[in-house]
Amino acid sequence: MSHFSYQDGVLHAESVPLPAIARQFGSPTYVYSKAQLLQNFRGYAKPSQGRDALVCYAMKANSNLAILDILAREGAGFDIVSGGELLRVIAAGGDPGKVIFSGVGKTVAEIELALEKGILCFNVESIPELHRINDVAGRLGKRAPVSLRVNPNVDPKTHPYIATGLKASKFGVAFSDALDTYRSAAALPHLDVVGIDCHIGSQLLDDAPLLEALDKLIELIDTLAAEGILLHHLDVGGGLGIDYGTGDNAPVAIGDYVSRVFARVDAWRAEKYEGKPIKVIFEPGRSIVGNTGVLLMSVEFLKPGEEKNFCVVDAAMNDMARPALYQAWMDVKPVQQREGAVVKYDLVGPICESGDWLARDRELAVEPGDLLAMMTGGAYGFTMASNYNTRGRAAEVLVDGDKVHLIRRREEPAELFALESVVK
Ligand code: LLP
Repeated sequence: MSHFSYQDGVLHAESVPLPAIARQFGSPTYVYSKAQLLQNFRGYAKPSQGRDALVCYAMKANSNLAILDILAREGAGFDIVSGGELLRVIAAGGDPGKVIFSGVGKTVAEIELALEKGILCFNVESIPELHRINDVAGRLGKRAPVSLRVNPNVDPKTHPYIATGLKASKFGVAFSDALDTYRSAAALPHLDVVGIDCHIGSQLLDDAPLLEALDKLIELIDTLAAEGILLHHLDVGGGLGIDYGTGDNAPVAIGDYVSRVFARVDAWRAEKYEGKPIKVIFEPGRSIVGNTGVLLMSVEFLKPGEEKNFCVVDAAMNDMARPALYQAWMDVKPVQQREGAVVKYDLVGPICESGDWLARDRELAVEPGDLLAMMTGGAYGFTMASNYNTRGRAAEVLVDGDKVHLIRRREEPAELFALESVVK
């Protein structure tokens, strides 16, 4: 069930009408539903209960401290890609011992920080990175837990910008090089080789490619075990897609996917890996926060044109980059349904770029001053926002039942240039 719904013709987040939020906090504003966040997280956590499993939320999707805090209290770990994200986890009260560190370009300073804080594992993407982590760990007198991100070369059938497990991708170690890379890792004195991971892409509606990738990882774990390299965890990555309202096939339900992963792991362990502990790790981002948030905006002007009619709103590509960046189709709903002529509009923002559009060819009955909601905007929305055109980033609000919490206030223009100085 969705926690954003029309009640008496007005779009609500849980039991709060969105116009009340716009009146109190202005627009554009990201509005999140706590109930939806919990429902999604528990989709992973419930079938994992009583098992050796960990859900490491990929916080790049939405890293607001309030979101992290709620998930940390639910027992989540975190998948991070920078030292900054690690500091966020700690600031939100998350446990560094449940953090895995992904990314192709970890700096020495980031590795030092992660070792000092005692993270669960580095997801390593190359041989030079193995050496760098080994050197830093040696210098600090520590041992670094590592996993190798293996490229299973499975086609995820998603947008090329978010497909990451193919041969031509900058990510991970090629499947054919994995064995040798594990041998090199095992020979380094300051590393503990503990796991294997992959991430083949994002917004996958079907879980068949994810399960195919899992099979390839399992195959490699067996090969490594035969060589005496025993792994303790198997990280299947993130990537499960969500319903953006495009009318395509519905995505696989979280619980179904998780159960299928466990079924495969159980069957394999019973047959070949009995008695050896192996933790299963998930790295979901979008499927936890995507439908947890909407971007609330208001209509500034209607601008009819010869070929196109434009609906100019107060949100822009700096607030939500996905349409401009990936031609992503995001659903736009009127917050208050009104009678009147339906007109086909392109929804555009005030930024001085033709690429500044949020939606195209949408049939809407709107008037200036109306509120619109861009649905399913909780993932890769605020985290990808910028200050282009010296626009302060939107406010963020969390709804919990009938309560509304401001979890990030709107940025003021003066804050945007506060770090700059003129040369005298
Ligand atoms: N793990 C790793 C190593 C990743 O790189 C990602 C996402 C995830 C997990 C989480 O994937 P998810 O469950 O969210 O699909 N900005 C793009 C998506 C970029 C995904 C980057 N990596 C978008 O807005 O569609």
